[in-house]
This record gives sequence, structure tokens and C-alpha cells, in this order.
Amino acid sequence: MIMHKPVLVDEVMKFLDPKKNENFVDCTVGGGGHAKKILEMTKPDGKLLGLDWDPQAIERAKTRLSSFKKRAILVNSSYTAIKEIAEREKFQPIAGVLLDLGLSSDQLQASGRGFSFQTNEILDMRFSPDDTQTQAKDILNDWPEEKIREILWKNGDEKFARRIAAGIIEYRKTKKIETTLQLVDIIIHAVPRQKTRIHPATQTFQALRIAVNNEFNNIRIGLRDILDILEPGGKISVITFHSLEDRIVKHLFKRESVDCVCEPEMPVCQCGHKAQIKLITKKPILPGAEEISENFRSRSAKLRVAEKI
Ligand SMILES: C[S@@+](CC[C@H](N)C(=O)[O-])C[C@H]1O[C@@H](n2cnc3c(N)ncnc32)[C@H](O)[C@@H]1O
Repeated sequence: MIMHKPVLVDEVMKFLDPKKNENFVDCTVGGGGHAKKILEMTKPDGKLLGLDWDPQAIERAKTRLSSFKKRAILVNSSYTAIKEIAEREKFQPIAGVLLDLGLSSDQLQASGRGFSFQTNEILDMRFSPDDTQTQAKDILNDWPEEKIREILWKNGDEKFARRIAAGIIEYRKTKKIETTLQLVDIIIHAVPRQKTRIHPATQTFQALRIAVNNEFNNIRIGLRDILDILEPGGKISVITFHSLEDRIVKHLFKRESVDCVCEPEMPVCQCGHKAQIKLITKKPILPGAEEISENFRSRSAKLRVAEKI
């Protein structure tokens, strides 16, 4: 059963503007919500190449998109391999690409891999158990305190990173940390009581997932390769859920939208850099109050769009 509710669907469709018989890539196909809409808008012959790193997500997408038959090509892979996959599938020309980053509600609620602090599961958190070695529990049991503190702070904006990291080190002196509820217990004992709707373990879980899957680096690699495969006039839409992810997208888009990236004191251009894209959204697009009230997960979504020159 699909539980994931896609975010900013109308906004994504407005900017990608899928038309009859055009081809699109969904780099994070997940439950197939955005992909289904794109396939409906590109009928009768437009195709969608859908990637997801999580094998369970690809199985869900296959079920959801089965009525589109050969128009939906679904591949279990990280989008960091998009160039090779598009070439192998002879998937061209590409009118638009979507990246909807992070985690789906299906993974949160039913993966069995410890993404959620609400059910007791082993702290694995790998999107792809085949490609990734380190699990969240390995970080918690084996990494030094400073490195744990740094990922909680950098990947999770966790203001109690120091206290939580200290709590983890203290706990593991006597017992291995294996499960989500053990970690929740450590966090609850480490941080002061807060009056907020956000659970105190939210940021720690997010930070660990980002570290396990090397998510920030994947974005940098994926975005560059996507710009290489888009046809001129093709659009790239990126939805992020984290301020650092958004900053990576914003900076890369900005750099690729100008002709010279030399230091300002350089009298003549030495870099030879040429703009590859035009910015379509100068500021990120955010969900409206109605969407946030219907889908609380959408509250931190930000959409940025650019067009290949
Ligand atoms: C927010 S969900 C996407 C939801 C989707 N847009 C929908 O409408 O159902 C994010 C998806 O990205 C996938 N993902 C995360 N990192 C990935 C990567 N490096 N390559 C491919 N998929 C990735 C996750 O497994 C998850 O299914």
C-alpha cells in the first residue's frame, strides 16, 4: 500500500510543463506520485525513466505505474549513475528531470530499516543495503565523539549535538546501541524537555540517515551529471527538505548560471567558465498553508527550478 503523499505536485508540473510525447527522468521515483502525473501529461508516447536507490521503493513504483506499461522504465540505482543509465537505456532527448530528495513516508513507516523513531527497529538506515556498507548503528557504536557531534550538528542542525553525542558515548561504554528505541531513550535523557510539536529525536535521525547515505555528496554529483544530459530548453526541478541541501542546490545553480566564476579581483576572466543554465526560480517555491495543513511533512519543502541553455 502506498502511503507517501507527494509534495508541491502542482508547482512541479507548472515548471516542468510536461507535454504530449516528451521524455522525463524522475531521479527519486519513490512511491511514483510525481511520476504518475508526468506520465499522464505526456501520453500517448512520452516515457519516464524512474530511478530509486531503495529496492523496495522500486517495487512499489512498479506496482503503481504498471498501467503505463513500457512508458515507465524503472531502475534500482542511485541517481549518481544517471548518466550511464540514460545512455544504456538510450533515453533521449530529455525534456525535464525531477529530484525529490530525502525519505518517503513509506520508508519511514514500513521499511524495517530504522528510519523512524516511532517503531522499534534495527538502526540500519541504508537506502541500498547492497551498495552501502556502514549502517547507522556502526556510526553510533564505532565513531569518535567529535565525529558524531559534527554530523548531528552539520547534517541535523541539532542544537543539543554536544549533549546527545556525550549521551551516546556514555551509553555505549556498557551496551551496544542496536535499535531505534535505544537511541530515542538516549536522546530523551540527554536533552532538556522542550515545548514543541517536533519530537526531540527528529534531527538526530535525519543527521544519521544523511551520513549513512552520503546524501549531500550525492546531490553534488547528481546535479552536475543531470545538467550534462538535459536537452537545451530542458528543465531541472529539485525539492529539498533540509537547509544545507537547499544551499547546495542554490550555489550550484548560481554558479552554473553565470559565464565567469573568477575571483572578483581578477581583471580579465581566466576561468573560461560558461553558463549552462538559466534560473527559473530566483527564490525557492514553498508549499502553501493548505498543503502544510494536509501534509505536515511538506512544511520544510523548497523547490528550485532551472532551464538548460
Ligand atoms: C521523497 S521520496 C520521493 C517521492 C516521490 N517523488 C513520490 O512522488 O512518491 C525520496 C526518494 O528518494 C530515494 N533516494 C534517496 N537517495 C537516492 C539516490 N541517491 N538515488 C536514487 N534515489 C534516492 C529514496 O529512496 C526515496 O524513495
